Amino acid sequence: MNPTRAEIDFAKLAFNVGQIKKHIHSEYPKRKIKICGVVKANAYGHGIEEISKKLVELGVDFLGVANYDEAIRLRRLIPDTPILVFGTLIHSKLEPAKYVSILHQHNLTATVASVGTAKFLDKYSRKFRRKFKVHIKVDTGMRRIGLDYKGAFRSIMQIAALKNLELEGIFMHFAESENRNRSFSRLQLKRFKMLLADLKKAGLEFPIVHAANSGAVADMKESYFNMVRPGLLLYGYNPGSNSKSRIELKPVMNLKSKVTFIKRIDKGESVSYGRMYTAKKPVFVGSVPIGYGDGYWRLLTNRSKVLINEKFYPQIGAVTMDWIMIELGSRYSIKIGDDVLLMGQDSGLTIGADMLAEICGTIPYEMLCAVADRVERVYLDN
Ligand SMILES: Cc1ncc(COP(=O)(O)O)c(C=O)c1O
Repeated sequence: MNPTRAEIDFAKLAFNVGQIKKHIHSEYPKRKIKICGVVKANAYGHGIEEISKKLVELGVDFLGVANYDEAIRLRRLIPDTPILVFGTLIHSKLEPAKYVSILHQHNLTATVASVGTAKFLDKYSRKFRRKFKVHIKVDTGMRRIGLDYKGAFRSIMQIAALKNLELEGIFMHFAESENRNRSFSRLQLKRFKMLLADLKKAGLEFPIVHAANSGAVADMKESYFNMVRPGLLLYGYNPGSNSKSRIELKPVMNLKSKVTFIKRIDKGESVSYGRMYTAKKPVFVGSVPIGYGDGYWRLLTNRSKVLINEKFYPQIGAVTMDWIMIELGSRYSIKIGDDVLLMGQDSGLTIGADMLAEICGTIPYEMLCAVADRVERVYLDN
């Protein structure tokens, strides 16, 4: 009913997955490198269930989510694909046995970022026949979660002695892999590789080792190991305008609405709250029912443009909660009901999440995640 919607194009998602695979393969033609598709935060605003289903069809090996709620929701739909939960476990004091049994039941793969978590999982996994699969997270410089690389060797040896865990994987996360200056990323990788070498000497090797997020997939083949974890690339954007090699991608989401009202205003008349735009001459103004309540940032006020029938028009006056206004000029050919592209790509013309992010002083991730729940996601599959 509401003309404002986010069109999610599976053909573009498939294109991006293909591009990522091609890129990885061109770097290491002989190595089998798994892909963990990152679908946390509602698949960066694209819809976690629909995107995950499609990614599994497209041959993605793992799905990565931020927390156990996302994982449990997803498991109902995706019976087999491993789901790795990047976040920490809550050491529930209420009913820990029940809590861990729910995680077992949903066949989830946990991130272990502390010896405490490992012991907790181990203790409550005793009664299960299957060991609990875990990936150990090492903090090599992100300083978010993980075993500090300095003491990680000892902690990991302690964890390895626990009987009810299967140490399937080990991983790290980059703090600035999108930066053309790779010195910090190289340092992080060096710390990780030294730890892996020490563990190997002690007889401990992990079946799955991973580090590369989108920036590193694009630019740091030495960080691939045998799995990569792209998020943003899947959705059609390269992280950071700063990165060196860019993969050709297609934005999966087109945020769209329709022109629903047109009027003429006189020279000197203002538009919208705070009167931040005043007409220099008589102009026609179109109103489009999208605003910051839909995730179209108020910071875009007077600074963005929209696309209608393959032509760009400036957005004018303050972005309101439910509406924006656009300047159509002194004559216009568009009609009520014509489609308006706010973010995405149409007929080869782009209003990228990265372009809008730059105007707002943020990153494309946030522009995508900001698209509100009230915006209907429409899936195109052809
Ligand atoms: C642990 C982890 N891996 C991978 C990613 C994917 O990052 P990107 O979207 O930059 O590829 C994220 C997202 O921030 C993450 O938290």
